[in-house]
Amino acid sequence: MARATTAILAAVAILGNAGLTNAQAPAGAPALSLFPSPWGQGGGDGWDAAYEKARAFVSNLTLVEKVNLTTGTGWEFDRCIGNTGSIPRLGFRSMCLQDGTVAVRYTDKNSVFPAGMNMAATFSRSLMRRRGEAMGSEFRGKGIDVALGPVTGPLGRVPAGGRNWEGFSPDPYLSGVGMFETVTGMQSVGVIATAKHYILNEQEHFRNNVDVTIDDRTMHELYLWPFADAVRAGVGAVMCSYNKINGNYSCENSWTLNYLLKNELNFQGFVMSDWGAQHSTLESALAGLDMAMPGDGGARGNVYGAFWGGALTEAVLNGTIPAWRVDDMAVRIMAAYYKIGALSGNKPRPDVNFSAWVKPNVTVGPVYFRANASIEPVNLHVDVQADHGALIREIGAKSTVLLKNKNNKALPLHKPGHIAIIGEDAQDAPGGPNACEDNKCYRGTLAMGYGSGPGYFPYLVAPATALKKRAAADNTTVAEAPSNWDLDAARTAATGADVAFVFASADSGEGYITIDGNTGDRNNLTLWGNGDALIQAVASVNPNTIVVLHTVGPVLIDYAAKHENITAILWAGLQGQESGNSLVDVLYGDIAPQGRSPFTWGQNISDYGAQVMYTSPTPLAPAQNFSEGVFIDYRYFQHAHTSSVYPFGHGLTYTQFDFENLTVHPCKGQAASTAAVPSKSWTAAAQTYGTVNSSMSANVDPSGFQRIKPFIYPWIIRAANATWLFTAPKAFANTTDPRTNNSAQAVLPAGGAPGGNPGLYDTVYTIGFDVRNRGNVNGTAVPQLYVQLGGKDNPWGVLRGFDDVSVAAGDRVHVEMNLTRRDISNWDTEKQNWVVNNLQKYVFIGRSVVDIALNSSLPALSLQSAGVMQQRLACLE
Ligand code: BGC
Repeated sequence: MARATTAILAAVAILGNAGLTNAQAPAGAPALSLFPSPWGQGGGDGWDAAYEKARAFVSNLTLVEKVNLTTGTGWEFDRCIGNTGSIPRLGFRSMCLQDGTVAVRYTDKNSVFPAGMNMAATFSRSLMRRRGEAMGSEFRGKGIDVALGPVTGPLGRVPAGGRNWEGFSPDPYLSGVGMFETVTGMQSVGVIATAKHYILNEQEHFRNNVDVTIDDRTMHELYLWPFADAVRAGVGAVMCSYNKINGNYSCENSWTLNYLLKNELNFQGFVMSDWGAQHSTLESALAGLDMAMPGDGGARGNVYGAFWGGALTEAVLNGTIPAWRVDDMAVRIMAAYYKIGALSGNKPRPDVNFSAWVKPNVTVGPVYFRANASIEPVNLHVDVQADHGALIREIGAKSTVLLKNKNNKALPLHKPGHIAIIGEDAQDAPGGPNACEDNKCYRGTLAMGYGSGPGYFPYLVAPATALKKRAAADNTTVAEAPSNWDLDAARTAATGADVAFVFASADSGEGYITIDGNTGDRNNLTLWGNGDALIQAVASVNPNTIVVLHTVGPVLIDYAAKHENITAILWAGLQGQESGNSLVDVLYGDIAPQGRSPFTWGQNISDYGAQVMYTSPTPLAPAQNFSEGVFIDYRYFQHAHTSSVYPFGHGLTYTQFDFENLTVHPCKGQAASTAAVPSKSWTAAAQTYGTVNSSMSANVDPSGFQRIKPFIYPWIIRAANATWLFTAPKAFANTTDPRTNNSAQAVLPAGGAPGGNPGLYDTVYTIGFDVRNRGNVNGTAVPQLYVQLGGKDNPWGVLRGFDDVSVAAGDRVHVEMNLTRRDISNWDTEKQNWVVNNLQKYVFIGRSVVDIALNSSLPALSLQSAGVMQQRLACLE
């Protein structure tokens, strides 16, 4: 029976194996792991006050009540995608966890926002923040406690990765800003954000078991970086991913959870499993998992139907898992709850007022869906959209990237006499935008990808609708050819039009859905649905062909970039519900285009280096080595001296910007950085809260309680052979086993506060320059700051600053950007710390990664070898 029981017994056998901490890592991978699991301690930014409340709350709980907070009640059992148990004795309702990443999933009267990738394309911190606030308020309004986003795993290692659009950009700095702003915005209105999928969940093929080998430096400089920003922003939850890392599943990986996340990054919130990503009772608990979701994942068939629930209670009672670890799980969950509650002024949380499992247009249904029990109104159709449509429209426009604009003339449009609108991607889908759950069919205009990220549209403004509205106002006549396959009709419509718009798209999503042979990841980088042939056909007959792309990432459009008749190309990404309106705003110049490409557009898919692994010689144990290290996307193109069609950061405007007068100030206005030492080098010892009553009666179902199958409960149960699964209570902490040692623990030198050592975030240089608009129209410049760290192991340059700067025609605006210590450091594997190497460094200000306007060397800083960080900065000015 009981896989959980087997795990517990096996664990008892290995307790006392002192070599365990380093035995996990395979050859060639960093031999790093950390036990015991760091317990939450509180800290600045509201964590101390939240911990105080959480400890007081947890001190009042029985063991089964604590366990109930840590374990989901089972797939489709309660109303949300994930639900913790409740604490009825204290009137604490279950916590509701809900997707998605562009909308509240599976409900109605919600908005659909532009994708994370579009947010990156805005290069606008303020828009990222505002989207976070707006999305957060929609989750909160539905009674959701924990929103399952934002995403920065995948980061975007491979260009065809299915879920790249849910995240921001393959550049970790840009993604880090996206994470920071989104988390800050969402949590400010009282919903816990979840940074996911932690970590190296870079493709959908084999996502459930691929074992990724990665080196420590790449981990820090690329994939961990944006998660550090999320932690620094105070994120309440992190979701561990499905894949393995260096031999261990992500949700039982003591390197990634205990060492990196909870010690080095000082994460004070809780770690939840991705849905079914937990594989053990004991290992997951000791390696740092705090919440099992959806609760029953993967463990069906054991006596508990769960790795945790009653199995966790039992493991505590039999001494396999120390009580302090379960207390820490509960305290972390409640601390996140109180911290984020306080951010919204401690307002009472709304009741859950929808059911993910009952169709959104239906009102009455079962509260307990899988048991078909408690039939009542479950969907109250609470309208949470407020005025978010206006923001969505603005973001859509400002994330549109003008890739090509021949002679700066094709766009903006001025009342053309006759236009043609060609391609299915301009049109409404037959059956409407919500015809397919999880957006799993590819029809009509593309405004979001597929999988668990999407939600239902309140409406979707197709490009053809918006263009025709504008045309009517301008007395422009319109011809349409909606089919992608009828090339004769496309040519006929295009012939003689003043402007021929041709629309094309490419979709991707999550691996449980396959569309047209694409299982989450794209099979290639060509346009879908005959899109390339359609574009060629239109361009063959119309000398003013304008291509609009709704794609989930780069596509191969070298032919269009070079085509004489293609006068403009716009990448609109996935814009959400206002898609057509956003596009028209840019086409007609009502909004100045400010989108910049958040990824590189290659000539061939092979130009990107790393690729999706579609097949494996060992499909039951697929393995992947991220041997390209930090060289992905533009870093790889530059490293390999490959020219792109359009580089990272590229995007045209309707005016011309000059960047002038570069200045570089080391440590401007800063005192010597004393913060480079973690505030504490040691934690306190682990605490337990309240007392554990280990009597049987306190830990079995209360008398008269009727279990409903397959709901997951926290109580222990009698096994089939009528013996209790645990024998007798033991001492809780076995101090000879490093995994259960509850004594004070060392804080890693790179740690000390959320996001890592606070000294990493000290400003070490301030870079100043002017932006001059020398055109005739107002516009938004997006100056980008790249740093060359030096040496052959570093990319040519890495993005370390950007801004979106509105400048009126003829005006000049002074811009300053700060470089932090982290920005100029490399990860030193041996020292296990960030180190500023001695190589000459340079700073560049550009319009893209290849269009550099200004550059300067960075004057050397005085670095002293002292303190825990090895090198402390002394600013000389
Ligand atoms: C996805 C997560 C999602 C979860 C719940 C998983 O399959 O990877 O992103 O939050 O399901 O729907």
